[in-house]
Amino acid sequence: MPTEQTASSHDTPALRCIGLTRWFGDTLAVDRVDLSVPRGSLTALLGPSGCGKTTVLRMVAGLLDPDEGRIEIDGTLVTGPGVALPPERRNVGMVFQDYALFPHLNVARNVGYGLRRLTRHERNDRVDSALRLVGMDHLGARLPTALSGGQQQRVALARALAPEPDLILLDEPFSNLDASLRATVREEVRAILRAADQTAVFVTHDQEEALSLADHVAVMDHGRVHQVADPQTLYSQPATRFVAEFVGEADVLPGTRAGRYLVDTPIGRLPTDRALRAGEVTVVVRPESLALRRADDGGGVVTALSYFGHDQLVTVEVPGGYELRSRRGPGLDLQRGDRVRLEVVGPVVAFDHESDSPATLASDGVPA
Ligand SMILES: Nc1ncnc2c1ncn2[C@@H]1O[C@H](COP(=O)(O)OP(=O)(O)O)[C@@H](O)[C@H]1O
Ligand SMILES: [Mg+2]
Repeated sequence: MPTEQTASSHDTPALRCIGLTRWFGDTLAVDRVDLSVPRGSLTALLGPSGCGKTTVLRMVAGLLDPDEGRIEIDGTLVTGPGVALPPERRNVGMVFQDYALFPHLNVARNVGYGLRRLTRHERNDRVDSALRLVGMDHLGARLPTALSGGQQQRVALARALAPEPDLILLDEPFSNLDASLRATVREEVRAILRAADQTAVFVTHDQEEALSLADHVAVMDHGRVHQVADPQTLYSQPATRFVAEFVGEADVLPGTRAGRYLVDTPIGRLPTDRALRAGEVTVVVRPESLALRRADDGGGVVTALSYFGHDQLVTVEVPGGYELRSRRGPGLDLQRGDRVRLEVVGPVVAFDHESDSPATLASDGVPA
């Protein structure tokens, strides 16, 4: 690509966003977003509807200019002070939520659409290999309207892959598929991106989708990135209360600092996973870390039971009127109204009020 080229080594991220900010009127849609996407990786932008995910993607694609910030693709500045490379010169592929296939063009011509500058021979080769990659090489002559949702999705992916872009962006790529198809198509798309060694960023509001597919997940809320981490770290070391509650199941209790790594809560004194500074803190308890035992003198009362076969979810009211959930094996024999003793297995995640906001995070996105 022409334009300003910074040192492009193997370690250069495929995508780097620095301080991306975008207003729509009075709405701050994207607020100082920093993001770095390593080459060959799959990154999810995860957050509730309206948190700014699509706006980030559109700015990366060059479809929208930020008010502030810079974007580098493969070490090249594509958006920044005085720089706004048009979409077609960014070497970025895009898969839209509705696939945006051309209805009057057959599958092969849809896939070849971005390859018009190549010779006919080169173009045919690229179309063939992209269709082979997505397992659609036998359907090149079909019109998109004669394809299932999952097949249209694969054509859209082939079209994005065919120009061999540095980066593919996918906006809620699975949201138009039936629940029964979604898990299968998800795995297929992941396998295709891996086989092509393709760097990709996908947007989703579905935490299960993000955790199960992505190497790295950036959690967003109200335009801000709260944390960027691998799925395990995100779950076990959430950086903010928002991340703890949005990713996985979590119940919260108020707590009072009883030591650097100790907190007093309505269910007793608990060890924390991080050093506490403030006096008043919020404690997050995951259902799988709460063990129960029937005991007449126990501090909790069972208020609800949901049986799932492989396990069950027991809701317990604890002193102060707070409710906690406990995910237990199928063998536990409890009834509503039973008194139980509670034990939290392992340290709890605790936030003081300062660490509730992304502004106080360490640069690696993991709390100090
Ligand atoms: N073209 C637009 N004009 C006005 N407001 C917009 C526009 N696009 C997005 N917004 C607003 O910006 C915020 C972020 O939107 P969006 O990036 O689409 O969120 P997400 O993709 O996470 O659901 C929302 O409040 C949305 O209403
Ligand atoms: Mg969106």
